[in-house]
Amino acid sequence: MKYFHSILLLSLLIFSGCKIKTGKDTDSSEQNIQELISKMTLAEKIGQMYQAFDGFYPNDEALKNAVREGKVGSFLNVQGADRINELQRIALEESKHGIPLLFGRDVIHGYRTIFPIPLGMASSWDTSLVEKAMRISSVEAASMGINWTFAPMIDITWDPRWGRIAESCGEDPFLTSQFATAMVKGIQGNLDDPTAVAACAKHFVGYGMAEAGRDYNTTYIPEPLLRNVHLKPFKAAKAAGALTFMSAFNDLNGVPTSGNEFTLKTILRDEWNFKGMVVSDWASVEEMITHGYAANRKDAAEKAVSAGVDMEMSTTSFIDYLKILVEEGKISEKLINNRVANILRVKMSLGLFTKPFLDGKMAKDTILAKSHLNLSRELARNSMVLLKNNNQTLPLSKDIRSLAVIGSFADAPHDQMGTWVFDGNSDDSETPRTTINKILGKRMNFALGVEYSRDKSTVGFNKAIDAARKSEAIVYFVGEESILSGESNSRGIIDLPGVQKELLIELKKTGKRIILVVMAGRPLAIADELELADAVLYAWHPGTMAGPAVADLIFGDYSPTAKLPVTFVKGAGQIPFYYYRKNTGRPAANSDFTYIDDIPRNSKQLSLGFKSMHIDYGIEPLLPFGYGLSYTKFQYTNLQLSDTILNFNESIIVSANISNVGNFETDEIVQMYVRDKVGSITRPIKELKGFNKIHVKPGDNMKVDFEIKPADLEFFNGKDYVIEPGNFEVWIGPNSAEGLKAKFVLK
Ligand code: BGC
Repeated sequence: MKYFHSILLLSLLIFSGCKIKTGKDTDSSEQNIQELISKMTLAEKIGQMYQAFDGFYPNDEALKNAVREGKVGSFLNVQGADRINELQRIALEESKHGIPLLFGRDVIHGYRTIFPIPLGMASSWDTSLVEKAMRISSVEAASMGINWTFAPMIDITWDPRWGRIAESCGEDPFLTSQFATAMVKGIQGNLDDPTAVAACAKHFVGYGMAEAGRDYNTTYIPEPLLRNVHLKPFKAAKAAGALTFMSAFNDLNGVPTSGNEFTLKTILRDEWNFKGMVVSDWASVEEMITHGYAANRKDAAEKAVSAGVDMEMSTTSFIDYLKILVEEGKISEKLINNRVANILRVKMSLGLFTKPFLDGKMAKDTILAKSHLNLSRELARNSMVLLKNNNQTLPLSKDIRSLAVIGSFADAPHDQMGTWVFDGNSDDSETPRTTINKILGKRMNFALGVEYSRDKSTVGFNKAIDAARKSEAIVYFVGEESILSGESNSRGIIDLPGVQKELLIELKKTGKRIILVVMAGRPLAIADELELADAVLYAWHPGTMAGPAVADLIFGDYSPTAKLPVTFVKGAGQIPFYYYRKNTGRPAANSDFTYIDDIPRNSKQLSLGFKSMHIDYGIEPLLPFGYGLSYTKFQYTNLQLSDTILNFNESIIVSANISNVGNFETDEIVQMYVRDKVGSITRPIKELKGFNKIHVKPGDNMKVDFEIKPADLEFFNGKDYVIEPGNFEVWIGPNSAEGLKAKFVLK
């Protein structure tokens, strides 16, 4: 990561002739921005508000001319350090005002070194590891000239049908907010550093509530839910210094988010005082016509700019119509100036006006560096959740006589990387089959069984059963390919596809121990599989280092530590099922449940108990939020409150003792939840308010403290943000369904 001195010198020479001065302090920067804007023509200002994709211009000369003439402020998906350098040089040297370009790209969970999908990262509950991973992603991307990435994606979702759940941190606003902060810090790094990359908090806002989990679908989110859940991670991203936000695709309460004054202006600018820039999502400005909110492209441009979009991604309604709209007096030039100032502020904060050109050789030392691959492996093993481990099936001994490794996902170098990997290369992936082969050699009996997830053929079953019969135990890799999750890839049925379950049933008949490893972009409905297998490791899509990470865990070099960032449902009919739901007037207990098959044939009963439940699924989800097993056993005891009265302006400490009563040295993610018993609007049955990853040796114990401040109990009640006195319950536990409980009163 070294810049060559000659290049530095050259760039300094170039930049000494640069047409804008940059001031370190905000005041002089603002002055410079205003000065620059005062010299720009309206057309040049509108040019800054356009982000073109590579391939938009008919040829390279047209593209370069657009840069020379100040007709474009940013590119997305332009690739190659040399190309980016050349375009940046043209912008700085040959355009009238020497305004640098932003080069954006989706670097979502790694550039070439691919980390677990974000839902996997979130399962680590380890913000420091994730911050490091995002830094590495940025360093690799920056080495190729990228200075802006469209991450973090911090949409909250309750819907595993939605393919983009893979890109999210799951269902919880508190956990997602912690990751939003970590990811923004990691992506941007130190803004003075040449590897700083602008983050983009997306998709603002509510996109994860797409009805029926169908991507791009309508969202209806009442203001309390919007503020108490969906806006929280964005507020955290803003506080962490995210330089940019992306307006979303969804229609929110009747107004598309890319033309939504309430979210873009009232909340983002007026309430939060956001000074960075808002880019639209791809074509989301013009899609307001299809939504039925804008009459035509001109109307769409007017609505987006008036509401608060600064830059239009890919479509051209701004460059085609803003000048006319200003001339007609429908949009003031002052508003355009403000929009351009937001864009220039980002370019200036990133230091682009003074940044030396990229050293094309930098990538060589950076991309796939050993330390990057090591972190990818570490994060991957920290993201795999152990869902079941009967009779200590796991870990396996490396001395095992023979092991059957079965399933297409044991050897799926592309699919193990997951969705949104523009730059990931499957040649870089190490698959579980490769790693296990390195460890066991001839003692591994591999068979595909099924060729891919949706395969309906059972012709491979016999070979798999033979491999199983020859072996002491079976590791069966199942799942869904990366194409089955991600943008637009929503599923209505969230079961394990194809005949993967049928093969599991056949393997079970061999009587051998079965370890199921699931690679997927969403929490699949795997109730039957969970029942059939002896152990289940949910690996998500783990990235480049899936093989070594799976081996680290199944052979017991490390214990799994991850916990679910999302509730697992028994079937799609339970959706939405999230742990911070409301109590209802008729909550059911397990004892209330009558299973549909147990209802007498001629029952004349009116009801099965007048309780809120499904007579087929029951009361509970398959697995609760926060759940995850370990090779050791942790015991929670001695819950204590420093005081049972919490006064305004004070805080209390709630603590518990966590003992490692098993025999594996490892980490535990300790979780703290609170319930507000009565509110001016009804309150969730539990809300995560703190977590802590601790390391405990067998036989040792650790006291874990959490502070609770009145401000932590604040919520929006439809009119105001309030902190209401009254009774609260608090839990410290290993997941959202278990834990030690105490009470306190806020006075
Ligand atoms: C996605 C965004 C992404 C953008 C640019 C859109 O389709 O919704 O998340 O950043 O494309 O690739």
